[in-house]
Amino acid sequence: HKMIFAGIVAGGCGSRVKSAVIPKQFIEIGGVPVIVRTVRAFLAVDSIDVVYVGIKPDWHEYTDELFERFGIDKERIRVIDGGADRNGTVMNIAEAMVAEHGENERDIILTHDAVRPFVTEKIIKDNIEAMAKHSACGTYMPAVDTIIRSDGEKVRETLNRSELYQAQTPQTFRLGDLRRNYYSLSEEQNKKLTDTCSVFTACNEDIYLVIGDAMNFKITTDSDLRMANALAELNEK
Ligand code: CTP
Repeated sequence: HKMIFAGIVAGGCGSRVKSAVIPKQFIEIGGVPVIVRTVRAFLAVDSIDVVYVGIKPDWHEYTDELFERFGIDKERIRVIDGGADRNGTVMNIAEAMVAEHGENERDIILTHDAVRPFVTEKIIKDNIEAMAKHSACGTYMPAVDTIIRSDGEKVRETLNRSELYQAQTPQTFRLGDLRRNYYSLSEEQNKKLTDTCSVFTACNEDIYLVIGDAMNFKITTDSDLRMANALAELNEK
């Protein structure tokens, strides 16, 4: 039977959150660590078989203990070592899936940033549903601000907003396609790609658009962290 996996990338160090002494994915918001919130969102969707989390090896014991303390279902969670960059972590997760469950071309992997804890059930389900008809999909928000091109000094061009979207996650692939496409690119090509959908576009593969949600923002800076705290307080009142 076809498996549906979530791959949560949590192998970064969160250097742009200046106030933090631990990587941002481990910070508590409203008493619950970011990574626990994210994992719970995926475990809440019954059709997801197993959730893999890729972290820096130093944080392995810490993460195991955290999941234990917050009552995360051991049967459906795996903690594995992340890679040197984001796609490296995605690929370590993909290989761990194959090592455990075998090489199944059509198994599905929803890749997601650990630091987007407010991902909605609708977004997750829309990604899974899109894979019935399409071979890859990503989550995108129509741009709301006008976006310009600049060299940092002058405005060079005002872009046509109706054609612009901001990428969120999940980004969802068939496990076979993900491995084939990633390994077909040179190391140099791969270094330039910041997200996993761009691995697919570099291979001229179509990616279907799932519409995201403003709540599904990425915690990148201290002000995002403040926003996350405010949102958690509002939601949980
Ligand atoms: N990530 C990862 N493995 C890496 C680098 C990043 O799994 N080697 C993950 C992060 O943990 C995060 C996601 O990719 O969940 C998005 O990356 P970003 O927001 O840039 O996270 P960091 O790299 O941690 O942040 P910074 O660039 O501020 O250090």
